[in-house]
Amino acid sequence: MCSGGCAKCLGITLIPLAVLCTLANILLFFPGGEVTSSNEHITDEVWYFGGILGSGVLMIFPSLVFLGLKNNDCCGCCGNESCGKRFAMFTSIIFAAVGLLGAGYCFIVSAVALNRGPKCNSYNNWTYPFENGNYLGNTTMWTFCTSPENIVPWNLTLFSLLLIMSGIQIVLCAVQVVNGLIGTICGDCSCCGCCGWETELFKENEDCRNLFM
Ligand SMILES: *[C@@H]1O[C@H](CO)[C@@H](O)[C@H](O)[C@H]1NC(C)=O
Repeated sequence: MCSGGCAKCLGITLIPLAVLCTLANILLFFPGGEVTSSNEHITDEVWYFGGILGSGVLMIFPSLVFLGLKNNDCCGCCGNESCGKRFAMFTSIIFAAVGLLGAGYCFIVSAVALNRGPKCNSYNNWTYPFENGNYLGNTTMWTFCTSPENIVPWNLTLFSLLLIMSGIQIVLCAVQVVNGLIGTICGDCSCCGCCGWETELFKENEDCRNLFM
């Protein structure tokens, strides 16, 4: 298992997800793909910036920290080779928690938006014509939105993508919390080799042995 190497893959995966979430949130500001004449016509949940702030900006810090873990100096402090590495892994737990917070925010906002449905022009009245996700399984109801054209599939697709992508971010950050805990206890595995069952370092490292045996 673990630890610096796999943190790096997590970082590499998180970056495109953060970019895609930001893009999805930006597209939501153009209901049905059109520039709107009034900000009042945009669904409230779009203004919560779940994709831009939560799954976007807040995700940049953990991604960069995870990416850098592999390249940290292995020969750490106090003459203990894995100590500097351990501190890096410990720090990564804090950043993973920041990521969890951001992605969790985007996930909740997207779920609320999907349940409530989009704001649209329903017979010359800008309102939310749906409630409790009742439009999700009934496309006949989508005609309640007379304009903008395709507003229902537009919001449905983009908020669903945000929900899925922030869900993946949550899982990846949670993996890094566990990964970081193991890395903190064992020192780095791929770099210093202390967690490999057969290595000398593993046999000499009591904390690590206790964790796995
Ligand atoms: C879908 O919504 C329409 C309009 O409210 C309603 O008349 C119809 O019964 C609904 N269909 C289903 C399968 O619920």
